[in-house]
Amino acid sequence: MARRSSTRPRLAAADRELVAAALEARQCAHAPWSNFQVGAAARFGTAIVKGCNIEFDVYGLTNCAERTAVFAAYACNAARQPLTAIAVVADTPEPVSPCGACRQVLYECGGPELRVLLANLNGDVRVARMADLLPGGFRLDPKTARRERRQPGGKNPGKAAAAKRASRNP
Ligand code: THU
Repeated sequence: MARRSSTRPRLAAADRELVAAALEARQCAHAPWSNFQVGAAARFGTAIVKGCNIEFDVYGLTNCAERTAVFAAYACNAARQPLTAIAVVADTPEPVSPCGACRQVLYECGGPELRVLLANLNGDVRVARMADLLPGGFRLDPKTARRERRQPGGKNPGKAAAAKRASRNP
């Protein structure tokens, strides 16, 4: 029997749904400078949150599709559920490859086992694990982070810091 090519894997319905959502999201891309439209769709628990790339005249303010999807998930509270998969699609000869900044954000949100579906408009899809896309991704030492959260003033370290500032400057 002929082997399926690695960029034409047989996808489960849930993965096909995610790639289709990324293609839809790509329609919303605002890329007047690069003219390179990217769409992303991230699965947070039962929710699918879409993102597209957005470019500005100040080029450095551009946001990639993957990070738009993650930020949107926080904004609509979908990010309280775990990020388990993300699809990204662009018009590239090979399945699109996410930039380093997006890899770090996805690693922090979804962890090393996050399922990443990289696609193009020809129907090629590469399925990757986050740890393969970003070996040795950065994480804060959980012990340090926990100590921060235990500060007096509640669970929110920002709130604790504000309370401390207020007591210093009454
Ligand atoms: N871009 C993404 O949205 N995601 C990627 O993974 C790679 C690059 C965007 C940023 C910019 O708007 C355009 O593609 C060209 O770099």
